[in-house]
Amino acid sequence: MTLERHLGDRLSAFSAAETRIQTPCLLIDLAVVRQRYAQLERAFPTAAIYYAVKANPSPEVIGLVRDNGGCFDIASRYELDKVLGMGVSPSRVSFGNTIKKARDVAYFYEKGVRLFATDSAADLAQIAEHAPGAQVYVRVLTEDRPGADWPLSRKFGCEPGMAIDLIKQARALGLWPRGVSFHVGSQQRDLAAWGAALDRVKKIFTSAWQAGIALDLINLGGGLPGNYVNPTPELRRYAEVIEQAIAERFRHTPVKLIMEPGRYLVADAGVLVTEVVLVSRKDDSGPRWVYVDAGKFGGLIETMDESIKYPIYTNAQNEAATEPVILAGPTCDSADILYEKHQYPLPLSLKSGDRVYFVGTGAYTTSYSAVEFNGFPPLASFYYDSQAVQVVSDADKKKCAA
Ligand SMILES: Cc1ncc(COP(=O)(O)O)c(C=O)c1O
Repeated sequence: MTLERHLGDRLSAFSAAETRIQTPCLLIDLAVVRQRYAQLERAFPTAAIYYAVKANPSPEVIGLVRDNGGCFDIASRYELDKVLGMGVSPSRVSFGNTIKKARDVAYFYEKGVRLFATDSAADLAQIAEHAPGAQVYVRVLTEDRPGADWPLSRKFGCEPGMAIDLIKQARALGLWPRGVSFHVGSQQRDLAAWGAALDRVKKIFTSAWQAGIALDLINLGGGLPGNYVNPTPELRRYAEVIEQAIAERFRHTPVKLIMEPGRYLVADAGVLVTEVVLVSRKDDSGPRWVYVDAGKFGGLIETMDESIKYPIYTNAQNEAATEPVILAGPTCDSADILYEKHQYPLPLSLKSGDRVYFVGTGAYTTSYSAVEFNGFPPLASFYYDSQAVQVVSDADKKKCAA
């Protein structure tokens, strides 16, 4: 496969945008984000979409979700300020982070947010104090399953028994316990993960009902995939399985569904354009090391443990003759190795100055990149729209423009 084939009819818009940047730079095609949003709405017609802003907090993506009527899963007061500053009503916001300061709860409440996630008694108490009467949903732990390339199973959520206690406490504290949330792990390739999580949700709903509390909200979290090297089922399959799992468990309970997609909406829209800094060997017979100008600290942190394997292409001549390489970033840190176990076959002709394209990098790249490690600036980004006549916006023009 080549980049040309990968991008298909989006190639010319990509190439036009590429002429306007210096590497390293993330190019985001907003047409893809728009398409993913529409696909998600079609696949899950009854679910409200709360975009997980952390995946790509650019004004371009936030504006697109806002204009399509979407809502927002917010992790911090800084994300909140950004989203509200773009004219989004606080009624379209959920404070989805269970780890928060009391003064941030108060801040969200003052700004008009009324929907909060929680997973502990201490957090619930501060919500009750600083956001009186607010709606809360309790995040339940999910099982540790191998299907997620970026697991989120340990740090967030509580066991179902504790979730039930928190729901009862929420009522006693004058809050409005609405329901339950979970996250099956990001880039979840195992469709059965949702059914297993929904079993837990069902158990909590039933116990709450027995305690006289009618819950009505299920937050399905994230987990829907981007297209990387390891294949995933189609979105349609996810939708079928999730819909069936809900129907089986909540046939007699009216539930409102929300979902918090991050990766699915933005990953496939991005191509991180990098330049080869150096190609070398440690000895005559060892593998080639290819050093590019964006590494773990320049946006590619999800290569940690080689968890996310992006499709990679180059513009080198003689693409046919290839050899497996070790790929690494530009900083003076030995952790800055991208792929060593998984050795991508890259052209033998690859040399300094060539371009290496990391495809599917629209999610969790710019927002993760270091501020000044080794002096390198944060990853720049450039937004274009392959369905528009001309480039619509370029957020980081100053940083990016050649
Ligand atoms: C609370 C919450 N919701 C949604 C998401 C988005 O998950 P994904 O990118 O897998 O869609 C995350 C990611 O960390 C999250 O923490």
